[in-house]
Amino acid sequence: MNKTILITGGAGFIGSHVVRLFVNKYPNYRIVNLDALTYAGNLENLKDIEHASNYEFVKADIRDGSKMNDLFRQYNFDGVIHLAAESHVDRSIIDPNAFIETNVMGTANLLNAAKSLWANNMEGKRFYHVSTDEVYGSLGETGFFLETTSYDPQSPYSASKAASDHLVRAYGNTYHMPFVLTNCSNNYGQNQFPEKLIPLFINNICNNKPLPVYGDGKYTRDWLYVVDHARAIDLVFHEGRNGETYNIGGFNEWQNIDLIKLLCVQMDEKLGRAPGTSAQLITYVKDRPGHDKRYAIDANKINKELGWSPSVTFEEGLSKTIDWYLENEEWLNHVTSGDYQTYYSKQYS
Ligand code: NAD
Ligand code: TYD
Repeated sequence: MNKTILITGGAGFIGSHVVRLFVNKYPNYRIVNLDALTYAGNLENLKDIEHASNYEFVKADIRDGSKMNDLFRQYNFDGVIHLAAESHVDRSIIDPNAFIETNVMGTANLLNAAKSLWANNMEGKRFYHVSTDEVYGSLGETGFFLETTSYDPQSPYSASKAASDHLVRAYGNTYHMPFVLTNCSNNYGQNQFPEKLIPLFINNICNNKPLPVYGDGKYTRDWLYVVDHARAIDLVFHEGRNGETYNIGGFNEWQNIDLIKLLCVQMDEKLGRAPGTSAQLITYVKDRPGHDKRYAIDANKINKELGWSPSVTFEEGLSKTIDWYLENEEWLNHVTSGDYQTYYSKQYS
């Protein structure tokens, strides 16, 4: 094993795709997946690689600073890819403190542990912080988020991610911590927890439940297939320039209502329902407080510098995603039992 890499949040949606890619692609790396297994963490996401000889799972909470110090000393990590976070905007509106504790304090704990382990030799070390485009706030009808766009977070989720981004850059500046940072647009794909738009709506269509569209449905997001995000993370981790930020996006903007209509068409086809059946479930509901109007990423920097671009069209990615959910009913049943029902009635009643 020539490197030991810590991946935090590896049992979650994006993290599990990153862990899988690294375990399979880098047999000489020892991959340590650290995750607290919150409602969003699920080891079923990693069944295919759980017995790999270069993979290890550690159940731990990044809010526990002394535990992080112990683990960094024990494993002597060479690199960190930090994805663990509270990640859902609606939950951040219900309970902002959980976001401040995990996203801000948790990130600080990891930075402190890395700083103390690497104090005498930063050579070849790297702290990779995975962040979101939501830190830039909301766009009007035109324009794109660039790496130089000023931060203007509007939700407790995006504010907590913005704070963590600032901490990473501050540790880079003050303590010469070698870091890279990426801000990515909305992801979709296999294993996404059904609280986010696409898997929630797939699940509701399967169960003939209303599709709750916030406000007028004319909010715009830039969607990226999760496997393409994992590919970008691999590239930036290995080839990104130290201290740099890269925006990652799908060049793929959709108004929510148009996306939902496309999803309904694909679902009708796959479920053998008459055209228009799923769209009848569309129900306009009360808007999300402080709802950001539009996100759109300019991903030209990562494209030009590192040669990255998305590999699938949205129609293909969405179709693969739906197929996965239809084939993995058991996974969906597990994650939607218990606490999910409590959250759902609180959010949508
Ligand atoms: P997710 O909610 O699916 O997974 C988060 C993971 O972090 C879970 O496995 C959870 O158990 C773990 N976790 C949460 N709190 C923890 C704690 N205190 N200690 C240890 N582990 C903890 O999230 P995701 O959608 O996979 O997002 C991963 C990262 O990517 C986040 O940092 C998020 O901000 C960022 N991101 C997400 C998107 C998106 O569209 N989902 C887009 C851009 C950036
Ligand atoms: P979401 O998947 O929560 O991602 P984010 O808020 O981080 O962009 O939501 C995507 C868009 O879909 C956003 O504009 C909010 C909207 N939305 C709904 O209209 N209804 C829903 O039930 C959910 C979860 C989201």
